[in-house]
This record gives sequence, structure tokens and C-alpha cells, in this order.
Amino acid sequence: MTIDFSFHLPNKPSRIKLQSKDLEEIINQKDIGFFHLTDRDDFIEQTISMANQFSSKKHFVQIGIGGSALGPQMLVSSLAQTTNKTFSLLDNTDADYIYQTLKTIDLKQALFYVVSKSGGTAETVANYITARKMLLDSGVNEEELRNYFVFCTDPTQGQLRTHIQQNHYYALDIPANIGGRFSVLSPVGLFPAAFMGIDIQKLYFGANKIKKVLLKESEDNPLLYTAATLDDLYKSPNSKVDQTVMMPYSSKLKDFSLWFVQLWAESLGKISKENNNPIGLTPIAAYGATDQHSQVQLFMQGPNNKSIFLIHIKNKEQDFCFENNLDLPSATKLSPFNMNQLLEAEFKGTLEALKENKRPVFVLELDYLNAENLGGLILYFECLTALMGKYFKINAFDQPGVEKGKKYAFEYLNSLGK
Ligand code: PA5
Repeated sequence: MTIDFSFHLPNKPSRIKLQSKDLEEIINQKDIGFFHLTDRDDFIEQTISMANQFSSKKHFVQIGIGGSALGPQMLVSSLAQTTNKTFSLLDNTDADYIYQTLKTIDLKQALFYVVSKSGGTAETVANYITARKMLLDSGVNEEELRNYFVFCTDPTQGQLRTHIQQNHYYALDIPANIGGRFSVLSPVGLFPAAFMGIDIQKLYFGANKIKKVLLKESEDNPLLYTAATLDDLYKSPNSKVDQTVMMPYSSKLKDFSLWFVQLWAESLGKISKENNNPIGLTPIAAYGATDQHSQVQLFMQGPNNKSIFLIHIKNKEQDFCFENNLDLPSATKLSPFNMNQLLEAEFKGTLEALKENKRPVFVLELDYLNAENLGGLILYFECLTALMGKYFKINAFDQPGVEKGKKYAFEYLNSLGK
């Protein structure tokens, strides 16, 4: 496993002493479990055994939203190889989309994975009701339903746990001290990953391996250096850098950007308990080279209020040679090169231009996009998020801001009456 970190900053962070105890203080709290998930070999065993049990199924349909959806989706799109199995996600309550998704698969070959930490999220329950009805309508009888569903929720709490117990459904656990957006390395993400043929042991291996780097007590600690820099850039009176771009140069990591957006936004967008001021780093999802033709103009010449994470993968499994004899000057120019060289050139070109424009850039380079490196990358950004929460003196693990919207939505629903 190799993840190389490099920093391209107009100024060094002013915080001189970087202390790994800042991270240790967070991860040693009993109610914060994400860092220690990868010690849970029992989760690996349980999810592999569940995946084996349902290995004859062809279609995996994840039902969940937010942290119960974005991590699993990211794992599958980053690492799953083409097989005869499919993965779909029902997160939004968009009837047309759900109809289209479920109509295109053979329901008899489907396994639905219903994930909700709280056990009562409206969108998830709505999609569960819908999938269940479609199965019944397709001729599956009530007693057979347990062969179509696996659930994942809090081990003891919540309505869903009671429902599982009463109906003897198959279930996996989300540990009580893991919140949704920090749950990708729990059975929430492990089960779909294992079903889709991803080596989940390697995910854990990579995450465990990077722990040494994250806990290192020195200036070479990339995590502490990054967190201190972001904190500095945010608090500095002349350069309020309050937006964060995540831009991997990889289509397979497009969903990694979306996973990061939720982690960063829901964890760090809070009201300060110290002075009641709103705090937050607005995340922006991008991916290269595609966004060079969309958002990069803004990143280069727009307000200098963004820090930018670029992720580059040095080696790809596939490549395409451009050699050609077309009567087309732009094709002749490309003829001596191949596809991976072009993408690398685009990454390097963008980095140089951002540096010239004095934009703060953090580069992470992976030797390969594989389970080991992805496990490391996930834990790195989870720890960075937790650390930023500490530096901003907010609780990175709650989300009180989404409650009001839910309350009003239900008031509206009830007002429709029946
Ligand atoms: O990160 C979080 O805690 C949230 O985004 C939740 O994952 C999301 O609201 C879904 O909640 P639940 O898993 O309880 O259905």
C-alpha cells in the first residue's frame, strides 16, 4: 500500500507544534467508535458468511440514505469488478426512479439490504414498504420474504430491531458508537462490498496500516499538517478559506467525492457552542479530468476561498494507446501517447496552474486504486473530519440541523390528511 502526501501551499501553517494527542483524545472516547472498527474481525466474518449465504442472488439493492447509502455506493463504484451481479441504491423517495430501477431487475433474483441506524428514517422505511409490496405483487409470499431481505441497524435499539426480531429476519449490526457517515467500514458498507466481490479484509488491512501514519507525533504527520493548515486558512483574517474541493482524477472515485461531501458537510457545518456563530467548510464534489471542463475555471480564477484535494492514481489496470493515422491534427498530436499519460498530464497541468494561482492544494497519490489504499483513504478522511471538529470546537458527530426540516415535512404530510 502506498499513499503519498504532498502539500502545495502559499504559506506554511502558523501552528508550530502538531500533536497526535489531538486525534488520540477523540478516538479514545467510548462513544466514538469509527477508528476502532477495523479491529472487529467478527464483522468481516459475519459479512462474508452472509454474502456466501446469498451468493446465488444476482441483484443487490441497498435501501438507505445519507451515511447508510453513500459509503456503500462509493465502495462498489470504486472497487467492484464487472461480474454478473448488479448493485442498485434506493435512497431517494423518487417514485419514477424506484419504478425504473426495480422494473429492470428480476425481483426473484434480488436481495434487499435495508440499512438504518436509527431504524425509523422516513425515506428508508418508505422504500422498504415499496420493495416489499413489489415482491408480494410479483408472487413472493409473506413467509418467503425473509429470503429477500437483510437488515442492518443498531444492535439493540430502535423500531427496526424489534421488527427484525419479531419476523426472524436476517440482520447485521451497526455498533451503537458509530454514526451513519462514519459507518462505511462497518457491516453497512462491508456487506454490499463482500457481495460484489470486493476484498473487505484488504480494506481493513489498509485502514489499520495507515493508523501508524495518522498517530505519528511529528511534522511529517500528513493528517495533523493538513488539519492545522485548513484550520489556519479558515481562521486567518485575510484569507477565509471556507470551501473544500475534493477532486480525484478518476471516474471510479467520483462517488468518493460524494461520500466526502456528506462526511464534511454534516460533520462540520454547525453552530459554534462558544459564540453561536455559524461554522463550516463547504465541500465541493469534483473529479478530473471531467471537471476541468466545468468547475476548474472557478477553482483557478474565482474567489481564493477554496482548499483543493487532488487525488492521483499512478497505475491503472487498463490503458489505451492513441497511435493512429487519422487525418486530424488533434489526433496526430495524441498519437505517440496513451490514455493514462493523458490523464496524468491533465492532473499535473492542473496542479501546476493551481500553484501558480496561489491556491492551497493537498495532493494524495495512490500507487493503485485497490481495497488496501481505499481503506487507508477512508480512515484518513474520517480522522481529518473528526480533527477539524475538534479544532473548530464543535461536535462533528451529531446533526441537529436536519431535524427541523424533517419535523416540517411530517407536519405537511399530516396536513394532507386522509
Ligand atoms: O450521518 C448520519 O448520521 C446521517 O446522514 C444518517 O446516515 C442518515 O440520516 C440516515 O439515518 P439512518 O441510518 O438512521 O436511517
